Amino acid sequence: MSKVTVIGVGNVGATAANVLACREIADEVVLLDIKEGLPEGKALDMKQASCLLTMDTKLYGVTNDYSKTANSDVVVVTSGVPRKPGMTREELIGVNAGIVKSVVANVLEYSPNAILVMVSNPLDTMTYLTVKSTGLDRHRIIGMGGALDSSRFKTYLSEALNGANLNDIEATVIGGHGDTTMIPLTRLATYKGVPVSQFLDKETLDKVAADTMVGGATLTKMLGTSAWYAPGAAAAFVVESILHDQKRIVPCCVYLEGEYGQNDICIGVPVRLGRNGWEEVIDFKLNEEENALFEKSAEAVRKTNAVLETL
Ligand code: LAC
Repeated sequence: MSKVTVIGVGNVGATAANVLACREIADEVVLLDIKEGLPEGKALDMKQASCLLTMDTKLYGVTNDYSKTANSDVVVVTSGVPRKPGMTREELIGVNAGIVKSVVANVLEYSPNAILVMVSNPLDTMTYLTVKSTGLDRHRIIGMGGALDSSRFKTYLSEALNGANLNDIEATVIGGHGDTTMIPLTRLATYKGVPVSQFLDKETLDKVAADTMVGGATLTKMLGTSAWYAPGAAAAFVVESILHDQKRIVPCCVYLEGEYGQNDICIGVPVRLGRNGWEEVIDFKLNEEENALFEKSAEAVRKTNAVLETL
């Protein structure tokens, strides 16, 4: 029996739970939120959908009762407020840091062995806060930003390649999960194994990278709040990779101890995911220019991390 809990059932959390259930990634999915009736209602709605979709995942909704989340294998943390149009993810830190810290403490009380998939923003800093405040083995704490940003990168590449099949595109975004900190690795992106630079000129590739970086902000402007289908799917994708021991290489935000030249920071790098969390950081052998971007990104993430000290 595998059990996954999703904390916070706003748009992103509910979408993650729904994907987990529809794709039968876990045997049991618990939805928890502080808003009375909301998690119960969403779980009931999903359960009724399950009759139509012939899925067998057990769904439960609970208002702030962490005892019902006991012994979860993986817990997805989406708690906190999303950004409004014009806001950066970093501006959410004041509100979300306190929420994330207390949520994670409650989660671990009932699921001391759970692997934590972090979704709350600012993602890199919330992941760092979780590593620091829990003292858990760093392999058990995984921020999902890179999975999402890479899916946006692939989508923009597919459009530039006249609707190329998304499954034929390999593309990775590393660095921070911020409009100015993420690094789409254009040099390493391929279309069926062939470098995309063989099909697209520099100007087009630069535009794809720029669109990727503000991918979340573009949607926030269109929707009036931050996106949820891809963020929810990205969280579920990371959960699936872990729970099913898939050994996929996914760019995720993890705590570095020397990898990519960085220490004492959580930031997006390619990691191999398996049943025990992230198993290994994969060295993509960045060139000088990419390394410089990574260093700059880390510097910006550190600046946001420093705000934690002032809260
Ligand atoms: C986004 C938010 C979820 O990128 O960070 O859409």
